[in-house]
Amino acid sequence: MKTLVAALVMSASVAAHAATPDPIVSGRDYHSYAEPTAFRVKHLDLDLQTSFEEKRLSGVADLTVARIDANVTTLKLDTRDLTIRRIWWMRGATDLVPLRYTLGARDAMLGSPLSIDLPAEGLTPEFRIRISYQTRPEASGLQWVAAPLTANKTDPFLFTQSQAIHARSWIPLQDSPQVRMTYSATIHVPPGMRAVMSAQPIGNDAGGLKADGIYKFDMPQAIPSYLIALGVGKLEFRATGPRTGVYAESALVDAAAKEFAETEQMIQASEKMFGPYRWGRYDLLILPPSFPFGGMENPRLSFITPTVIAGDRSLTALIAHELAHSWSGNLVTNATWRDLWLNEGFTVFLQGRIMLAVYGQRREDMEEMLDLMTLRQEIATLPPSDQVLAIDLRGRDPDDVFTQVPYIKGALFISWLASRFGTEQVDKFLHDYFDKFAFQSISTEDFRAYLEANLLPQKPDAVKRAELDEWMQAPGLPKSAVLPHSDAFERVDAARTAFLGGKTTAADLPGKDWTTHEWVHFLDGLTGKVPAAKLAELDAAFALTAVGNSEIAFSWLRIAIRNEYQPAYPRLESYLTTIGRRKLIKPLYEDLMKTPAGAARARAIYVRARPNYHPIAVASLDGIVLAPAR
Ligand code: BES
Ligand code: ZN
Repeated sequence: MKTLVAALVMSASVAAHAATPDPIVSGRDYHSYAEPTAFRVKHLDLDLQTSFEEKRLSGVADLTVARIDANVTTLKLDTRDLTIRRIWWMRGATDLVPLRYTLGARDAMLGSPLSIDLPAEGLTPEFRIRISYQTRPEASGLQWVAAPLTANKTDPFLFTQSQAIHARSWIPLQDSPQVRMTYSATIHVPPGMRAVMSAQPIGNDAGGLKADGIYKFDMPQAIPSYLIALGVGKLEFRATGPRTGVYAESALVDAAAKEFAETEQMIQASEKMFGPYRWGRYDLLILPPSFPFGGMENPRLSFITPTVIAGDRSLTALIAHELAHSWSGNLVTNATWRDLWLNEGFTVFLQGRIMLAVYGQRREDMEEMLDLMTLRQEIATLPPSDQVLAIDLRGRDPDDVFTQVPYIKGALFISWLASRFGTEQVDKFLHDYFDKFAFQSISTEDFRAYLEANLLPQKPDAVKRAELDEWMQAPGLPKSAVLPHSDAFERVDAARTAFLGGKTTAADLPGKDWTTHEWVHFLDGLTGKVPAAKLAELDAAFALTAVGNSEIAFSWLRIAIRNEYQPAYPRLESYLTTIGRRKLIKPLYEDLMKTPAGAARARAIYVRARPNYHPIAVASLDGIVLAPAR
């Protein structure tokens, strides 16, 4: 990260924030108390006990810290809801010198800064400190899933979610994406359970359990804190290739291995375009359905929602996405959460390149069309200042500003560059960009400088400066965007029109031949009011209320809510009480809240579902469902 003092970024969108008139400092992380100009954590060594009874991790974190500014004598770390027991300076190999520290006031968004007074004498340029601590049951980055809510229903499950600023709720550290560290860990788990991490397992092969419940890990590549991850459960492993496999509970492991058997093909497709996969193995961990995201790109081990195990490999774009982060995000990392589009927009672009290579044009066109629809719908609801690629997040919780803009608009920006410079040239440009910034964190302005120096000169007239500025600074979708097109969806549109106009019955629709994508497009196009008889007809022909595919069910349930289609209500309730993936449940609650009867239904379901949702999902849903009635 090299731009802390570089360009001040002033654009129309920033100026619009009257409440925070100061210009944004490119590369400054407004979501961390750490001061990376004074100190940098280089290595983390964890030794943690896992208590499911107490919902608590406890133990020690040893930090190896490089001193950058010798005048600063207080080391500031990020924490949230941690209980700090003691802190020592580790002098020499065995000497523990107690240190004084203060835990600052708790900020609702950022947590509490931990300020550690360093010894006045004897500190080496790289020194070590030991922090003895424990987590609290309500830690925002941990979910302690009770046995009945897992696939096997026999054992509990623990998983972490550190992105964006939740690592601090389970490890005291510099919780900023511009601080990279290597890590090692010893995790103690109850007998019969297995621990997995975003790291290389040491001394235990994937096949066997450790009788003593002690699992060791080493992560030799320096990563930002948001990629530190832990899962503990009754996990089995199935290999799907020489460097790929899945960890899951026994009830799911075979289905998951079958669903994701094409992972190695995806890696090879990506390597061909973007350079070698640099992380050794690529495994998947299948989480309980309360995981609040679709996937999380924890290095070497992506965390995956079970809701994409559809049985027909139709939702594997999620795997391509998390895998693609091995280049965009994990190798070249956003310097701050304002720069998230460098992670997510690039990743959606890479995901598309991988999906095209593995599954072909027809499927890729459909997936891009579905993405574009969600982007359009979302843009319609957002203030202009949140429709820009690099969103001003000062004073805001990144979890609350999670939208499709950095994802889909970001990917459309790269696609637009490809349309002007050629796809092969842009692939090559990205390949070199990943090489150049490998294991570094960069800002939007760093990227722009690299783009101007390395891609634009290849064809000086290919893009106008005003066009580039529009993409990188203006709200909305630029007119120059190159939009996807799908013939398959046009046929679906025609079928829908015929059905709504009474020219075809539901039974005569070609639905039996439709893929997940075609079904989702068909249903999402049933906007406005649809007569109950038509819905009943569709339901009778295709058993939509009972459909297992989580995405088709989602689209169907939105229609059911809008049209008060009562036969689907029990399914709506079971969906909302078993799935905790935010993308699939938040819109359903929002739809319900639009009418008084729906709001009552939403509240009744939410009261039952809430205890089982992840803290990140609860934080977004409370404001929607529990907000005072208007
Ligand atoms: N890294 C994200 C998830 C994330 C982003 C968590 C920001 C917290 C803050 C992950 O790679 C992701 O984008 N997941 C998507 C996948 C989809 C776009 C294919 C999801 O969970 O829906
Ligand atoms: Zn992502």
